Amino acid sequence: MPSDQSLPNIVILTGAGISAESGLKTFRDNDGLWENHRLEEVATPEAFEQNPSLVYRFYNARRAQLQQDDVNPNAAHEALAKLEKAFGSNLMLVTQNVDDLHERGGSQSVYHMHGKLLSARCAITQKTFDWSDSFDHTTKCPCCNRVTLRPDIVWFGEMPMYMEEIYDALSKADVFIAIGTSGNVYPAAGFVQIAKESGAHTIEANLEPGVTNALFDESLTGPASHIVPQWVDQLMSKYAL
Ligand code: APR
Repeated sequence: MPSDQSLPNIVILTGAGISAESGLKTFRDNDGLWENHRLEEVATPEAFEQNPSLVYRFYNARRAQLQQDDVNPNAAHEALAKLEKAFGSNLMLVTQNVDDLHERGGSQSVYHMHGKLLSARCAITQKTFDWSDSFDHTTKCPCCNRVTLRPDIVWFGEMPMYMEEIYDALSKADVFIAIGTSGNVYPAAGFVQIAKESGAHTIEANLEPGVTNALFDESLTGPASHIVPQWVDQLMSKYAL
């Protein structure tokens, strides 16, 4: 669908903070440890090579948490889905989150730059498969019939997904908003700079200022479930949508 010239191009980046009120832990607000392992120790290709069962355990625990009955999209996820309906292809939603709460909140197009918890990927062909609870570090890949399956997650040291599409959208952005991300992990933390250089108005929406706060034109401070619906309503009324 071609973009509508009368509407601004919006790029939205979300991080763990948008899912915090849905009951999912953020990375850096707690102690950043899992069973006494630093996150970086269980989320690397080296960790998977050396101790695949530990890495499977880590992601199984996160998947189990995501599938609990009380983990549901919140008002921020839902507001972004409403914005997508109104802005269509003028809007790109990029998330660093590997949960599926944007989709469950109604968003149709979500760029999961760090991968997805609910899929597995063949390390050889890069084909992805719906996650099955029967998968473990001994499971053979359905396409290769070899033990090449891995979580469909971008680990530390790996290249995030969809970078070409994201940089292209940032170069055309009129509005860039980063929601619930601390600004510690690149390349996502650098998107604000690229958007600014493209002339976009940049907004940080967070519980507290993140480490790149000084780069943003505007800050919205508070819980995502309050500030995101407010921002969405203001933007929609500005364009009479
Ligand atoms: N509403 C808005 N923001 C919130 C809320 C909330 N209810 N709760 C917490 N936050 C903010 C925190 O203040 C923090 O700035 O969300 C941010 C979460 O930051 P991180 O835990 O660092 O998560 P994120 O920025 O998404 O991490 C980036 O790091 O480990 C990797 O791959 C992982 O995608 C992840 C990446």
